[in-house]
Amino acid sequence: MTTLAAWPYPRWVAHRGAGKLAPENTMSAFRLGATYGYRMFECDAKLSSDGVLFLMHDSDLRRTTNAQGTGSDRSMGELAQLDAGSWHSRSFAGENLPTLEALARWCIANHLHLNVEIKPTEGQEEATGRATGELMNRIWPEDVVPPLFTSFKPDALRGARAVAPHIPRGLLVDKFADGTGEAALNVALELGCVAMVLNHALWDKALVQRVHGAGLRCSSYTVNDEWEAARLLDIGTDAIITDRVDLFSPAA
Ligand code: G3P
Ligand code: CA
Repeated sequence: MTTLAAWPYPRWVAHRGAGKLAPENTMSAFRLGATYGYRMFECDAKLSSDGVLFLMHDSDLRRTTNAQGTGSDRSMGELAQLDAGSWHSRSFAGENLPTLEALARWCIANHLHLNVEIKPTEGQEEATGRATGELMNRIWPEDVVPPLFTSFKPDALRGARAVAPHIPRGLLVDKFADGTGEAALNVALELGCVAMVLNHALWDKALVQRVHGAGLRCSSYTVNDEWEAARLLDIGTDAIITDRVDLFSPAA
C-alpha cells in the first residue's frame, strides 16, 4: 500500500502575502497576512541578473513596480531601488521589492511556513530551481519544517531537487493536457513530489482519491469563494491557497 506523503503544513496558505489587500510579494503583504492569523505564505521567486532570488510574479516589472522591462535583466541592487507599492495604493508607496532570503529569514524568525513558487523567467528554469534549493540549504535550519517548493515548470523542480532533494516539492498545474490529470500525476511522481497543486476547478472527488492513492497531497489555488472552499474541503483536499485572508479563518 502506498503511504500518503507527510504534510507538516497548515491547511490555509496566504497567496502572495495577503492577496489583494497589500502589494503582492512585499514584506508588508506578508506581515499583513500574519496579522490575519495566517501561518503559511505563498510567494513567487525569480532570479536577478546577478543571481539573487527576488519576489515578483510577472516577468515584466510594469504591473507591480514603477519600472518596466524584464525584472531578471536587472541586478538586485537595481531592483531594490524600485517602488513596489505605489501601484497598489498610496499608503504602500516606496515599498521595497524583497529578496526571497529576506522573506525566508522572516518566516524562520517568526515560526511561519513558506511555499516558494519557483517562477523562472523563460530559459532560467533549472538555474532558478537550483538557486532556490541552494539558498534554503544555506539559511534554513535543519530542525525547522522546510519550505515547500512548487512550480509549473518541471525543470525548475528538477533543479531544486538536484541540490536540495530533502526539500518537499509540489507540481503546479493549471490545465490537464490529457483531460484526466494522469499525465500530470506521472510528472509529479517522476519529480518525487509530495503534492499536486492544481487550479481549484480541476479537483473532483475521484481525482483526490487517485492522487491520495498515489501517495501525494492535494492542494488548490487560488480559492476566493466560500462555496468553492467548502467543496474542496468536502472532497478531501489537504490545502487551500487564498487571496481572501480577510474572509477565511486559517484556524478552520
Ligand atoms: O502558487 C499558486 C499560484 O500562485 C499559482 O498561480 O499565477 O498566481 O502564480 P499564480
Ligand atoms: Ca504564485
